[in-house]
Amino acid sequence: MKKITILDIQRFKDEGRKISMLTAYDCPIARILDGCNVDILLVGDSVGNVIMGLDNTLPVTMDDMLHHVKAVVRGRKQALVVADMPFLSYQVSLEEARRNAGLLIKEGGAEAVKIEGGENVEDVLQALTTIDIPVMGHIGLTPQSIHRMGGYKVQGKEEHQRQKLMADAQAVERAGAFAVVLEGVPASLAREITEKLTIPTIGIGAGANCDGQVLVINDVLGLSGKFRPKFVKQYVQLEDIIKKAVTEYVDEVQAGTFPTEEFSFK
Ligand code: KIV
Repeated sequence: MKKITILDIQRFKDEGRKISMLTAYDCPIARILDGCNVDILLVGDSVGNVIMGLDNTLPVTMDDMLHHVKAVVRGRKQALVVADMPFLSYQVSLEEARRNAGLLIKEGGAEAVKIEGGENVEDVLQALTTIDIPVMGHIGLTPQSIHRMGGYKVQGKEEHQRQKLMADAQAVERAGAFAVVLEGVPASLAREITEKLTIPTIGIGAGANCDGQVLVINDVLGLSGKFRPKFVKQYVQLEDIIKKAVTEYVDEVQAGTFPTEEFSFK
C-alpha cells in the first residue's frame, strides 16, 4: 500500500471516495489502525480527556502532544499523521504558532497540524500554509472553546450561526487548509458546507454527507466508560473483554495456576 499524502486526501474528495480518520495516541494502536488502511491518524488533543484523565483539552501542552505524536509516527507506515495544536500553542502570536507547528512536524514527525477556529484564526492558518506546513481546519463544536460555548453543544442550529459557520469554512479554505473537520453541526449544514468547499470536509457528529468521518478510537473500541455521545458508534466493547481477561489472570495468580511450565524457563 502506498503512503498517503495530503494530495491523496484532495484526490479522494475529487473522486468521491470517502476519507477515514481515527484518533491514535500511541504506537501499538497506530500500528493496528494503519494496518486496517485508515487514511488519516489524528493525534488529537483529546489525548487530554481520553488518555491523561483530564476534564477537557485545555491543559494539554506541546510536550504532551510531541510525546504522543512521536509514538504514533513510530507505529504507522502509510497513513497521514495529523497532530493537533494544543490550546495556547497558536493563539498568542504568529511567531509562536509557526514555531509550535514546526516542532510537531520537525521533532514529532507529523505531516500536518490541525487548528480549531475559522475566521478568527485565518491569519494563523495562512502563516502556516505560507511556510509549507499543511493545516487541517476544525470548526463547529471546537472543544478548546468549551467555556465560550458553555459546554459541548451542537453548533449551527440557528440561521445566524449557520451563516457564521459557512463563513468560517470558507475562511479555512481561503487560508489554504487542505481539509476541515466539521464537529457537532446539523447534517444539513455539513452537507451545504461540503458542497460549497473544494477541500474535503471530515465530519464528527455532522451526518453522512461529509467527504470523510473521524471518531475517537477509544469510543469506537468501547474503552470510554459508560458515557456515549449520540454520534458515536461503538464497534466493540473492549472494556468487558479486558475485564474478563484481567480477572482470569488475577484469579490464576492467586490460585498459583499461572505460570505453568509452558510459561517458565528450564
Ligand atoms: O482531538 C480530537 O480528537 C479531535 C477530533 C475529535 C476531531 O479534534
